[in-house]
Amino acid sequence: MENVILNNGIEMPILGFGVYQITDAQECEQSVLDAIQTGYRLIDTASVYRNEEAVGKAIEKSGVAREELFITTKLWVSDTGYEKTKMAFEKSLHKLKLNYLDLYLIHQPYGDVHGAWRAMEELYKEGKVRAIGISNFQPDRVMDMILFNEVVPAVNQIEAHPFNQQVDNLKFLQGNHVQLESWGPFAEGRNNIFSHELLVSLAAKHQKTVAQVILRWLTQRGIVAIPKSVRKERIAENFNIFDFQLSVEDMAAITVLDTKTSSFLDHRDPETVKWMASTKIED
Ligand SMILES: NC(=O)c1ccc[n+]([C@@H]2O[C@H](COP(=O)([O-])OP(=O)(O)OC[C@H]3O[C@@H](n4cnc5c(N)ncnc54)[C@H](OP(=O)(O)O)[C@@H]3O)[C@@H](O)[C@H]2O)c1
Repeated sequence: MENVILNNGIEMPILGFGVYQITDAQECEQSVLDAIQTGYRLIDTASVYRNEEAVGKAIEKSGVAREELFITTKLWVSDTGYEKTKMAFEKSLHKLKLNYLDLYLIHQPYGDVHGAWRAMEELYKEGKVRAIGISNFQPDRVMDMILFNEVVPAVNQIEAHPFNQQVDNLKFLQGNHVQLESWGPFAEGRNNIFSHELLVSLAAKHQKTVAQVILRWLTQRGIVAIPKSVRKERIAENFNIFDFQLSVEDMAAITVLDTKTSSFLDHRDPETVKWMASTKIED
């Protein structure tokens, strides 16, 4: 497994496993167990995914030493603010059956994110989390977090895939020592990504699959990727990307697919803010 080094010196696997939309507890536990047995060490969940308990059970069952794993969860909008963040963090740790986290992210750029960050800085200094970061923050909001806080976010987890390549964002984040982590590396299969002609031809050229080409393309750009699958054979397929390399020409060819827009939602649309603000997490 290749690693990236975060701005505080800690190592993070460049490839991990995401569990968004795996709502069935049994399926989630089995998928995470399959992933860890396949060799994944980075697991990405969130309180709003409502599957932290299942992830915790899989971690426990896996028998893999805690220090070998890199566990991320995220703080939901309704839990932002200093005090609420401290409580939400403890709740997540409890559900995951852990006594520390590797990475804790502010899930969305809404609510009292500065209050949340102050709490997260304290958790970080107390050693309860090895790195803290953000998700879905646009460059202006990233800069706001950097300028008005002590600890620079280690990671910004944002949508990144062939149809939304985040070229300028990657440069901006790298320039500010913030690691870009891609969510939705396959655009969740939208726009027929797995049968896209160009990607299919690159896959054939390397005797790999389209999924493997996409993950290789992201990681060759220095981006951390966390693909999701509930199928054991795909979990293995998505992990098997370190035995080939895309050429400079291959990488350049993929750039034409960039639409520079989200395949999902606009984080700056007031309706998005309203929708996320109204999403609550019940215990
Ligand atoms: N921070 C955020 O706001 C945010 C937002 C979205 C996601 N995320 C994180 O990013 C992770 C990944 O994103 P995502 O789950 O939205 O979508 P994704 O990984 O882009 O795509 C998942 C979809 O692709 C299919 N798939 C997976 N591997 C495949 C393969 N090798 N061949 C063909 N199809 C394949 C899966 O189906 P099967 O399961 O049936 O295989 C599923 O339908 C999430 O799980 C979550 O951890 C974060």
